[in-house]
Amino acid sequence: MRVVVAGGHGQIGLRLLRLLDGGGHAAVGLVRNPDHVADIEQFGAAAVVVDLETDDVARVAEAIRGSDAVVFAAGSGPGSGVARKRTMDRDGAVLLADAAVAGGVRRFLLVSSINAIRPGDEGYDDEPGEGDVFGVYLRAKGTAEAAVLDRDLDVVVLRPGRLTDSPGTGLVRLAASVPRGDVPRDDVAAVLLALLDAGTVDATVELVSGETEITAAVGTA
Ligand SMILES: NC(=O)c1ccc[n+]([C@@H]2O[C@H](COP(=O)([O-])OP(=O)(O)OC[C@H]3O[C@@H](n4cnc5c(N)ncnc54)[C@H](OP(=O)(O)O)[C@@H]3O)[C@@H](O)[C@H]2O)c1
Repeated sequence: MRVVVAGGHGQIGLRLLRLLDGGGHAAVGLVRNPDHVADIEQFGAAAVVVDLETDDVARVAEAIRGSDAVVFAAGSGPGSGVARKRTMDRDGAVLLADAAVAGGVRRFLLVSSINAIRPGDEGYDDEPGEGDVFGVYLRAKGTAEAAVLDRDLDVVVLRPGRLTDSPGTGLVRLAASVPRGDVPRDDVAAVLLALLDAGTVDATVELVSGETEITAAVGTA
């Protein structure tokens, strides 16, 4: 399978590209910084320079055309303010979905967040103040989810809990709704690979550490 990972130089993105390469897939990382290309190529993946906040749909579609699946693992990062929650976490994901449609890539995996708030959810219209960066982020993620699901794509929305850099355990809790908790980035990447390998579509699932082996958990998603 040829899989494109947006946010390819991110902490989950790099882990997923390594796993894809190790699993015999053709892996392609989208990066916005040309200096990051070599880091990705060194373990066998290809890299394409794309900026999801400034490039247009046609440019991104060209970068992903011919792939079997695309994964949105990009993000504005913890140091960013409300503006980039909207331009990156919301609009960047929607741009990638529009590019997937334009480029004929049907499978789309969106890394969202536990407790993302979609339009229509309770509290969505309670406009968070500009100082409430996390409130804006959860609404940006929820709005992106709704927009991606509205496209003619085969979508999986994965909503991890708080990400950690602890070593992965391979044991998770993955369901439509799970209690709030942490999850190692290692395990998020492994779940993404398992979802791709299983051909899972039409699912929105939350993810935290748990007691179920990843392949088994994905089998019931
Ligand atoms: N932190 C948490 O606890 C938590 C919880 C649930 C979900 N999430 C979500 O999990 C996902 C991945 O998290 P992570 O920790 O792996 O993120 P990360 O390490 O911050 O990686 C994000 C990547 O996105 C890239 N990016 C930023 N702006 C971009 C743009 N305009 N165009 C293209 N790429 C751009 C960054 O590129 P540069 O390297 O050039 O900056 C970076 O490589 C994110 O969507 C995040 O919102 C996080």
